[in-house]
Amino acid sequence: MVDDLFELSRIHAGTLRIRPERVPLGDLVSDAVASADPVARARRVRLGGEVEDGVEVVADPAGLSRVIANLLSNAIRHTPADGVVEIHGGRVAGGVELSVSDSCGGIESHDLPRLFDVAWQGDAARSPGVSARERGAGLGLAIVRGIVEAHEGRIEVVNVAPGVGCRFVVRLPA
Ligand SMILES: Nc1ncnc2c1ncn2[C@@H]1O[C@H](COP(=O)(O)OP(=O)(O)OP(=O)(O)O)[C@@H](O)[C@H]1O
Ligand SMILES: [Mg+2]
Repeated sequence: MVDDLFELSRIHAGTLRIRPERVPLGDLVSDAVASADPVARARRVRLGGEVEDGVEVVADPAGLSRVIANLLSNAIRHTPADGVVEIHGGRVAGGVELSVSDSCGGIESHDLPRLFDVAWQGDAARSPGVSARERGAGLGLAIVRGIVEAHEGRIEVVNVAPGVGCRFVVRLPA
């Protein structure tokens, strides 16, 4: 939490330092999936997906790993038992796209743009599967967006199908 606050202040001051290097996206995703897997198993959430072979991204490895870890942890936390969380990565025109989709039941369309705001956590009544102990500080997505934008990338969230889930989509320049 204290680390998150420092990270956020650097993002807001425009002094977040990233050291981009060419890294295999699949490696970062496999590591993040391996770390998240015990939490997913404990919640009986199926965690899957794949990254297209040979995709490389020019990114700060620690920063991008944090982005992936935050998106996976949110997705797992908001998915009920027997639901599915999937991560996919691949090339798109002009760069690389990474998406994390979940079975959260969908997000009210008027809330979609607010998810990335500092401290916004929505209505506890709409996240019945999330215990008080699991609730964070509402900083994760603000940090995720800051890191993505420091890479000149973009992030958005969309609902996948009515009442099913949502998908966070990160696009990074090649
Ligand atoms: N994958 C998701 N599915 C559904 N709702 C989500 C998802 N990710 C985030 N949200 C909603 O957006 C809010 C903000 O997310 P964010 O990651 O910024 O904060 P947090 O997870 O509550 O706390 P922190 O990340 O600081 O531990 C969450 O409280 C939740 O209401
Ligand atoms: Mg979070």
